[in-house]
Amino acid sequence: MSKRTIVTMPGDGIGKTVLEEAVKVLDAVGFEAEYVHADIGWEFWCKEGNPLPQRTLDLLEEHKIALFGAITSKPKSEAAKELDPAIVDQGHVYYSPIVGLRQHFQLDICQRPCKTLKGNPLNFIRRGPNDTIEEPEVDVVVFRQNTEGLYGGVEWTDPSDQVYDAFMTHPKFVKNFSWSPKNEIAISTRIFTKKYSERIIRSAFKYAKKFGYDKVTLCEKPNVIRETSGMMLAICREMEKEYDGIQFNFTNIDAQMMWLTKDPEKYGVIIAGNMFGDIVSDGFAGLIGGLGFACSANIGEEVAIFEPTHGSAPKYENLDPSIVNPIAMIMSACMMLDHIGEVDKAARIRKAIAKVVEEGKVKAYDMLKLRGCQEVLEQGAASTTEMTDAIIAAL
Ligand code: NAI
Ligand code: MG
Repeated sequence: MSKRTIVTMPGDGIGKTVLEEAVKVLDAVGFEAEYVHADIGWEFWCKEGNPLPQRTLDLLEEHKIALFGAITSKPKSEAAKELDPAIVDQGHVYYSPIVGLRQHFQLDICQRPCKTLKGNPLNFIRRGPNDTIEEPEVDVVVFRQNTEGLYGGVEWTDPSDQVYDAFMTHPKFVKNFSWSPKNEIAISTRIFTKKYSERIIRSAFKYAKKFGYDKVTLCEKPNVIRETSGMMLAICREMEKEYDGIQFNFTNIDAQMMWLTKDPEKYGVIIAGNMFGDIVSDGFAGLIGGLGFACSANIGEEVAIFEPTHGSAPKYENLDPSIVNPIAMIMSACMMLDHIGEVDKAARIRKAIAKVVEEGKVKAYDMLKLRGCQEVLEQGAASTTEMTDAIIAAL
């Protein structure tokens, strides 16, 4: 069989560090692949005025599957100041290359599993009856619509007359907003389409069925955001009928954030639109160890990109040896293996991670609850490489 080609996009800061560690683990598990490097991130914004160069899009188009580290991004005005003086006046405007990737390749399905690893000192604990202490086992997989909604980018400050007039046809706009001068209005829209709502909901139900979850929960706000959340709820209600044995429920995002520390075991597979999915997945990730453990997949009809949810953590970028936890990136690589059908290898890596965490001999600084700095290595924290080596040894 010919080798698979995987595009690697390390990006900035610790993205570069953790991606290299994940590849070591993939090699160790016997996954045979050829890795092709692709440029993305701050360096390319500064040098070329484009954080997501066309050559990177071409590589993704060709090879379809990618591992991504993390990027640094900054507000537009700050970004403009860091452009190479040679290209300053060429009209470059900074945009997030991650959002760019999701939209360019229609990576509409974002999966974020949040599962407790036994023995992780960062696991959420709660008080039970009579002051007992309980450590609930969280096993949630968030399915977040990744391309539409509030992050869809259809927005204006001081909208044109045409846009303003269109809004003025809505009685609520007239009643609640027409008092404001037009040039003092900012509008960000939340547009959902039936096609992509159905796709995220279908993939969540399918996943629940395939992996034996008996609950699917829609986390939106249908009582207030009637059109978009309402459409999601209506589709869920229809689809529920096709999946015997799966119980469907819905929660409101605000209440969900309050309840998730009370009874995080209750939800199974969670479906949400773009922004609420972003919020609820961070909430659950906090219960299972936070950014050192939170992995994700962005899956479209053709291209799929796997990345930890953390950013480039510039504070730690130049520490040598590095101290950051590579587990989130390594688990993102496991999601890639699952996606391309290498499920046994993914399972072996997950088992090795679980073993290292449960044994508790090797812990990254976050697992020791230390403030990150070089000295943590003298305080018993494992370096990034030591953590990877322990996982490889456990394989
Ligand atoms: P961040 O996720 O980079 O770091 C926040 C804090 O989380 C760090 O200071 C560190 O304490 C901890 N942390 C992150 N990754 C860790 C790991 N693997 N192991 C242990 N601890 C870890 O978020 P921050 O500081 O808000 O943003 C830094 C840069 O990253 C910004 O430019 C931001 O725009 C960008 N960013 C990029 C993302 C991406 O590429 N997907 C996501 C989030 C932020
Ligand atoms: Mg986020």
